[in-house]
Parts: sequence; structure tokens; C-alpha cells
Amino acid sequence: MTLNNGVRMPMVGYGVFQVKPEECARCVRDAIETGYRLIDTAQAYFNEEGVGAALADCGVPREDIFVTSKIWISNAGEKAAAASIDESLRKLRTDYIDLMLIHQPYGDYYGSYRAMETALQAGKLRAIGVSNFGVGRFTDLALHMDVKPAVNQVEAHVFSQQTALEKVLREYDTAMMAWSPLGQGRNGLFTHPVLAVIGKTKGKTPAQVALRFLLQRGIVVIPKSTHVERMQQNFAVDDFELSPAEMEEIAGLNEHDSGNVDFENPAFIRYLIETYG
Ligand code: A2P
Repeated sequence: MTLNNGVRMPMVGYGVFQVKPEECARCVRDAIETGYRLIDTAQAYFNEEGVGAALADCGVPREDIFVTSKIWISNAGEKAAAASIDESLRKLRTDYIDLMLIHQPYGDYYGSYRAMETALQAGKLRAIGVSNFGVGRFTDLALHMDVKPAVNQVEAHVFSQQTALEKVLREYDTAMMAWSPLGQGRNGLFTHPVLAVIGKTKGKTPAQVALRFLLQRGIVVIPKSTHVERMQQNFAVDDFELSPAEMEEIAGLNEHDSGNVDFENPAFIRYLIETYG
């Protein structure tokens, strides 16, 4: 897809949330070998170095791989965020990061965003955006900043379809990127009867149908797996199509439109700020 600043981004990526630092380089190498050209990491995943090691020795030119990272709450504010971008560049062993996001909407994220705008101008970043911003915080930030967020990465899967946010993002030409696009397998996603029946007619698994549902809505997906055969399965999602009727049937699975993790929950926010703020 083409982002709102003209930068091109793959629609299917490999996410390394919860991939152990010691396992990360091997997983990213396997993912690149499988064909993935978008790798999504974050400062708070503690595995940027593993991604950097894989980028350095995978044999694919740096410019053919799209790298995403995220500024963590403990680095919020213009000065700290700027320093953390340099730190991410060092760990990722690269001169530029394709997409940098503010990880969560807490602390001085306006300052962090200004630091990203400056780094964008300096060529250290190619695109900037946010993650886990609900409709209110997203709208306020987008209206206040010079550079419109290119991406909002949020929890999105068949049980949390983010239809309300999708409408708002469209107004700013901001792309939606889905974290946990398989819902971490909850609600029996990998054997769900609706997904299984639809998949059977196409020789596809419920996981592939779940990913395809998001892709056909224009949502970028970054499924995580440490297993090569699952990486391959999750990547093989561009050779079949869901009909309008099948899309509608899967739309009916939506339960918590804005995700299982509630980023407006005061106790959750207090915990994060007290731990990392
Ligand atoms: P594993 O890493 O052991 O393969 P999400 O991307 O929604 O967060 O989901 C990730 C979880 O789903 C991980 O626990 C991963 O396990 C598992 N997983 C990923 N892809 C598949 C798949 N195609 N089939 C079954 N489980 C999968």
C-alpha cells in the first residue's frame, strides 16, 4: 500500500512482539527467507538488536525491507524520544527506520511526535505514526501536528474489527495496521467453525481466512509465529479472495470493536505510568 506521504509499505509483515531476544534473529531470518519484507518491532520488545542482527546478515538489501519500531513510554518527550530514535537506529544497525510509531498514548506523546517529525526531516525516519490511539486521542493529535500520522497500529482481528476507528482514520488517510491479527488464537480462532467452513472451500486454514478478512479491508497485518511452517501459512494469503457474502459473515464475529486491551482503563494507565513513566 502507499502511505499518506507516498512511502510504499508491504501489506503482510512479521511481528516480533513476545519473541524472546535470543530467538529473535533466527525468527527474523526465517521470516525474511519465507518472503516477509516488513518486520515490526518496538523498543519495549527488547529485541531490536535481534532484528538488527538479522537485517545485517540476511542477504537481502536493506532498502528491500520495511522496518517498523515504536517509542516506549519511558522515552516520552521531545528530548528523550529523539535520543531513543538514535538508540533504535544503533540497535537495528541501520541509518533509517521506515516507520516509527508512538507505542501508547500516554505521557508527553506530543513531544515524542515532534521528535519524530524532526527525525523525519533529517531522513532518520521515512514515515511516522502512532499505535493504540483511540478515536479521541488520535483525532486531537492529528489535528495538532504538521505531519499527519501515516499509520495507527491497533489490536484488530475478526473478534475486534475496529470499525469505528477505521472511519476516523480514513478522514486523515491514515493506514490501519493490525497487531495480533490472529487474536493470539483466543476464542478458538484457529478452529473457528465460520472461518473453517469458508477456508475449506478454498483450501485455506481459519488463520489464513482471518488474515485475508483484514487485508481485504485494506488493513496491514503483522502475524507473529516462531514456527517456520506457520510463518509460511500466514504469508500465503494473497492467492484467494473472500466474497462480499463471506466478508459479511465474518463481520458478524465482531465482539469488542476496539480491542480486548482497553487503553482508556484508568487502572491499566496507572500501572503503565507507575512502572515505566
Ligand atoms: P507460535 O509463535 O508458537 O507459532 P497474533 O499474531 O494474533 O498475536 O497470534 C500469535 C499467536 O498465534 C502465537 O501464539 C503463535 O504461536 C500463534 N500462531 C501464529 N500463526 C499461527 C497459525 N497459522 N496457526 C496456529 N497458530 C498460530
